[in-house]
Amino acid sequence: MSQRKTPSKLYIIAGSVIGLFGLTAWTLIWSTLFMLWSRSGQTHLGFSMSMALPFCALQLAAFLGRDQNAEEWWLKLRRLGYICLGSLAFLIPLTLVSRVLVALFPSSQLLLSVLVPMIAMGSVIASLWFARSGPFLTETTIVLPNLPKAFDGYKIVQISDLHIGLTVREDYVSKVVKLVEQSHADAVVLTGDMSDGLPADLGELMKPICSLRQHDGIYFVTGNHEYYSSAQEWVEYFSENGVNVLQNSSSVIVRGDASLEIGGVNDHHAHQVVKEDRSSVADAFRGDKFTTRILLAHQPLTIDKAVQYQVDLQLSGHTHGGQIFPFNFLVKLQQPFVYGLDRREDTQIYTSSGTGFWGPPMRLGAPAEVALLTLQSTN
Ligand SMILES: [Fe+2]
Repeated sequence: MSQRKTPSKLYIIAGSVIGLFGLTAWTLIWSTLFMLWSRSGQTHLGFSMSMALPFCALQLAAFLGRDQNAEEWWLKLRRLGYICLGSLAFLIPLTLVSRVLVALFPSSQLLLSVLVPMIAMGSVIASLWFARSGPFLTETTIVLPNLPKAFDGYKIVQISDLHIGLTVREDYVSKVVKLVEQSHADAVVLTGDMSDGLPADLGELMKPICSLRQHDGIYFVTGNHEYYSSAQEWVEYFSENGVNVLQNSSSVIVRGDASLEIGGVNDHHAHQVVKEDRSSVADAFRGDKFTTRILLAHQPLTIDKAVQYQVDLQLSGHTHGGQIFPFNFLVKLQQPFVYGLDRREDTQIYTSSGTGFWGPPMRLGAPAEVALLTLQSTN
């Protein structure tokens, strides 16, 4: 059955997000107002206010002004705003559960009004810690039936969704570089969403990634976030810094008489921003298939086209593995695969959980990874 996005799916996702966010906001505000007027409200008024105020006010800061070179106090305020935004991941399900429990057991209201903010706060702290602990080097062996013997054991290291910007800075990029160096991979692939901003502001932070020296080089495809700033500027930046940019095109890696074709496409939705930049697997792999085909495509949604054009392995990202539990369930509504190694017909796909994080510097249940993929031949 096709997993492609349909208008009805979009309505379900948009309706769910608006409904859940609205219910949570309403509950927090209602609970604060109620306790202000309640004689017995002294105990958890502080808890309610501590969640309602940052929830309603600071989140706005995250989206106000995108100048990467703004004053440090403003950048810190925006980071705090992102953390408040991330707290929604816990507040939404906790609010839903608590409202059901209050409806069933009215006497539990006071207890829950204390527990919900406490659990939410604990989850926020844990997810901040998990995000800063990453990324981790993960290792996966992928068996490709027709892989030339010369490429048996070939290692590709994948960096995806690094999102260099407000919350991913020099220290985090250094950790990524160290992991890639440890991996001893033959090639590096960058599967999109590498930054949130322009090369003029973030180019220096990206330089260590471009300076990686693997035997067969570095390959880059755009993600949707490159198109939110300037995809063309990033394409020029990576080209000028020695990275192979694959825009509906491919490169061939040679070992003696054997070869491996690495193709790459523009982001699945690139044409919605730049009409000419459609994603085309057909253009990436022109002519008859002559060897194993590996496709770099930011979004797993490209899988149907990959199957059509006999791709053996697609490497994707975009999902962040959900980034913060339980968002992985929402991601599943929009993408056919969320994390790890999967298959559709004869095409395998590895979906990275992402190397950085978008927005809130938080992760829970979906660790950030530098994915080391070892190809194994059955020949
Ligand atoms: Fe993305």
